[in-house]
Amino acid sequence: MLSIDLAGRVALVTGATSELGRVMVRTLARAGADLAIHYHQNQTKAEELAAECRALGRRTAVVQADITRKADIEAMREAVTAQLGAPAILVNNAVIQYEWTSVLEQSEADYESQFRSSVLQNVLMAQAFVPAMIERGWGRVIGINTECTMQCWPNQSAYISGKAGMDRVLRVLAKEVGGHGITVNQVAPGWTLSENRTGEGTPQWYLDGVALKRRGTDQEIAHAVAFLASDLASFISGVYLPVCGGNVMPAI
Ligand SMILES: NC(=O)c1ccc[n+]([C@@H]2O[C@H](COP(=O)([O-])OP(=O)(O)OC[C@H]3O[C@@H](n4cnc5c(N)ncnc54)[C@H](OP(=O)(O)O)[C@@H]3O)[C@@H](O)[C@H]2O)c1
Repeated sequence: MLSIDLAGRVALVTGATSELGRVMVRTLARAGADLAIHYHQNQTKAEELAAECRALGRRTAVVQADITRKADIEAMREAVTAQLGAPAILVNNAVIQYEWTSVLEQSEADYESQFRSSVLQNVLMAQAFVPAMIERGWGRVIGINTECTMQCWPNQSAYISGKAGMDRVLRVLAKEVGGHGITVNQVAPGWTLSENRTGEGTPQWYLDGVALKRRGTDQEIAHAVAFLASDLASFISGVYLPVCGGNVMPAI
């Protein structure tokens, strides 16, 4: 039977405590990976997730960092590497939330925070963790993007300008490190149902636009992440993969 087997791989998920991140952690653990569980403020959730992973027989490390700060990311690398060894799989998932408004009203600080949250997170994570992947000759970098980057709806400019910049960084990185057996891809969720976002009040116009006529689940996003992390996806790189039921469809 074909299966996803990540046994012996260490995966680091940033924003593991988030709505989507926590299911990615559980799914990667179920596929056999050891888990470095990153949090910013929610240590309690990070420790709970670590306990769940250990119950499955996985090794875990719980690490705190502000993903916009180089010193924090370097300290995280030292802590994870000392406890689990260098990660082979990175999932750059953390996001800074802020209040969305129009271009005319959004503050300069919000644009800067989204640049740091999306572009710099991916740059700093690559600089900290990809060298060890190059040494090993195997690695997976998975950035979590969004369907919004293709939609360009009102009030999302700060968020999606950061995500669009991240997209370009990761496509270039894919070309720079592919020769070392490292794939670099992005999963772009749609507006996703999760533990605390149950979909009550979803407007019909949104569902009408989705080819599959429903919202996707946190588990469906995590399955895509696990697939891209695995050897089944060994020849896929530089991809922006919408997991949004066909709400956006990149053109060829
Ligand atoms: N949810 C959706 O429907 C959806 C749709 C499309 C794309 N996405 C993408 O999916 C990813 C996860 O989204 P989500 O909605 O699940 O997130 P979320 O629940 O809002 O959680 C945000 C996460 O980011 C962490 N974080 C915030 N500021 C940070 C900082 N300065 N340094 C380090 N970590 C920080 C938080 O850590 P603590 O909790 O520990 O403080 C938390 O884990 C994001 O990249 C998002 O753009 C989500």
